Amino acid sequence: MKLILASASPRRRRLLSECGYAFDVEPSDVPEIRIDSDPVKTVVGNASAKAGAVAMLNPGASVLGADTVVWREGRLLGKPRDIAEAAEMLAWLSGRSHTVFTGVALLAPGAERPTVRVEASEVVFRELSAEDIVAYIGKVAPFDRAGAYDLSDFGEIVVSEVIGSYSNVIGLPMEAVRAMLSDAGIRPVRPEGADGPSGEEVLLRAAVGAASHAYAKYSGFRVGAALLSADGRVFTGCNVENGSFGLTNCAERTAVFKAVSEGVRDFAAIAIAGGADTPAYPCGACRQVLAEFCQPSMPVICCTLGMGRVERFTLGALLPQSFAL
Ligand code: THU
Repeated sequence: MKLILASASPRRRRLLSECGYAFDVEPSDVPEIRIDSDPVKTVVGNASAKAGAVAMLNPGASVLGADTVVWREGRLLGKPRDIAEAAEMLAWLSGRSHTVFTGVALLAPGAERPTVRVEASEVVFRELSAEDIVAYIGKVAPFDRAGAYDLSDFGEIVVSEVIGSYSNVIGLPMEAVRAMLSDAGIRPVRPEGADGPSGEEVLLRAAVGAASHAYAKYSGFRVGAALLSADGRVFTGCNVENGSFGLTNCAERTAVFKAVSEGVRDFAAIAIAGGADTPAYPCGACRQVLAEFCQPSMPVICCTLGMGRVERFTLGALLPQSFAL
């Protein structure tokens, strides 16, 4: 059955494609509604209207519409019109948490009403100075993004934490979308991640995403890791600091311990994300912990949080003659 994504957002297209779905893209030009007191009604209304408009032109297809807004204290933020509005939005979000709502509407062929879902994620913003805001806008130009930021494009500069669905904040809550499509009999045609980004890029992105959960209260240095198991699963980890500094757990070890405690011990690769100019390399302790479970030939891919620099090693090169009993 033909699936159409009724959205112009390249980020939604990327998310749906990464999950292996085959679909066409046909944005709608219906005007968006905005009810500041009711973000849920706003996103459901807009997602349904977009799906409905495109479905009318494509009677045989299933159509997916979506709308994302940023909401805090009774104020809805859509897309900024210009630099001044983007700066004002970022200043309003700075140092606080807000909620990102995405409404998703799936209209099956011939159906009168769409199936709708709403996903909400909490996003905690860093404290941003006026200079930080100007630098961020200059770097990302976030004008077609609700709330004037983009989690998938240097999001770590402005966001300190995401509680809830990460893809929801990017524009399409893939956990909910997968379930809705599956209920409608629409399944991925490729394995996840087989299209577009390489396996390496998917793993690096997962590491960058994991860094957004870092508890780096004392060092401010956020690290994320994504460990790929031999059976294709990804276990993520972040650094978790402690007021008694020596108790800090690194991102890599968090990922390894998560996997091992779920019965997984065979690993194919690890991606590590941290640092701004130079990637974070795994510390000696993490190298030794990895060596307990992984072959010396296992790739270790390190990148900066913005993914601007990627460096590739093998575990054996990073820890020759590792200790083993
Ligand atoms: N860190 C990691 O998460 N992984 C490493 O391999 C090196 C260091 C974290 C631990 C600490 O929270 C912060 O980076 C600064 O040392």
